[in-house]
Amino acid sequence: MLRVSRTAVWKNIQKLKEEGYPIEAVTNKGYRLLSMEETDIFNREQIVGKLSTSWAGRPLIFKEETGSTNDDVFALAAEGCPHGTLVVAARQTAGKGRRGRTWISPQEGNIYMSILLKPDLRPEVTPMLTVVMALSVYQAAESICGDSAGCRFGIKWPNDIVASVDGGAYRKLCGILTEMRMEDSEISAITIGTGLNVNQTEFAPEIAENATSFSLSTGKKINRAALTAAIWNHFEKNYALFVQNQDFSALRPAYEAGLVNCGKSVHVLDPREPFTGTAIGINDLGELLVQPDGGGPVRAIGSGEVSVRGVKGYV
Ligand code: BTN
Repeated sequence: MLRVSRTAVWKNIQKLKEEGYPIEAVTNKGYRLLSMEETDIFNREQIVGKLSTSWAGRPLIFKEETGSTNDDVFALAAEGCPHGTLVVAARQTAGKGRRGRTWISPQEGNIYMSILLKPDLRPEVTPMLTVVMALSVYQAAESICGDSAGCRFGIKWPNDIVASVDGGAYRKLCGILTEMRMEDSEISAITIGTGLNVNQTEFAPEIAENATSFSLSTGKKINRAALTAAIWNHFEKNYALFVQNQDFSALRPAYEAGLVNCGKSVHVLDPREPFTGTAIGINDLGELLVQPDGGGPVRAIGSGEVSVRGVKGYV
């Protein structure tokens, strides 16, 4: 009826099986797609099928391998791609981290992705975009795997997503790098790049102490397409609230609910004037509020200026 030969069907089924689709074959009957639960098929179709956004992730470009998805986004911006264009990769060969570091990006079941934004924002509020992204990843982690016994997700200010198992130390499972391009002193393009350790089980010695993955923290294999889509579904809603107010006020309660620095002693690594204090929350600009040890007024710490370390460890 479909004018397709048996061999052509067989070839396509083999391709789907290679991609990880659980397909059963019965002689003289045909093929059947089995339950997709517990699978981790990571491709464009699987992600797009789970997106409920109107602009975030549209279009979505999927790559098995690339240099850096942040660089891909700037190249696409120069070609005229729209606000919301998303590049997702299964592996990066030149992944970039914050402060000029490398983001190790092996093909071990992780997510590397960057979105193109062409926002109409005042330049001084753009650092908050990273905080909007962190909140979205945290909410997606909670919605996809928040029911995992013993696992607690959190946000380490400003934009690291961390997890703790059975009350143990928090370790990092997601990092975010926001970059901006200017033209004639106006923002021409912004990319928010997000790297998530999802089904990775082993880490390079230099990061092993503080790194973890979703699967190590939850004890389950995670469907990357579902996690990716959930992140952008949350992001689009959070972004609307952020743009409407041009600040973080509407998102602050949700962010603070996940903020693991709250009430903890922190070192503020300000190159001009480092100090130690207790983190008490964030303000409407997404800055960390720290009560310095020994008294004095509460200080608001901007994410661009300094980094914050826990006095007793990473958080
Ligand atoms: C950090 O240092 O914590 C930020 C890491 C950001 C890594 C992501 S992976 C996707 C995107 N492309 C890059 O080259 N970097 C970001």
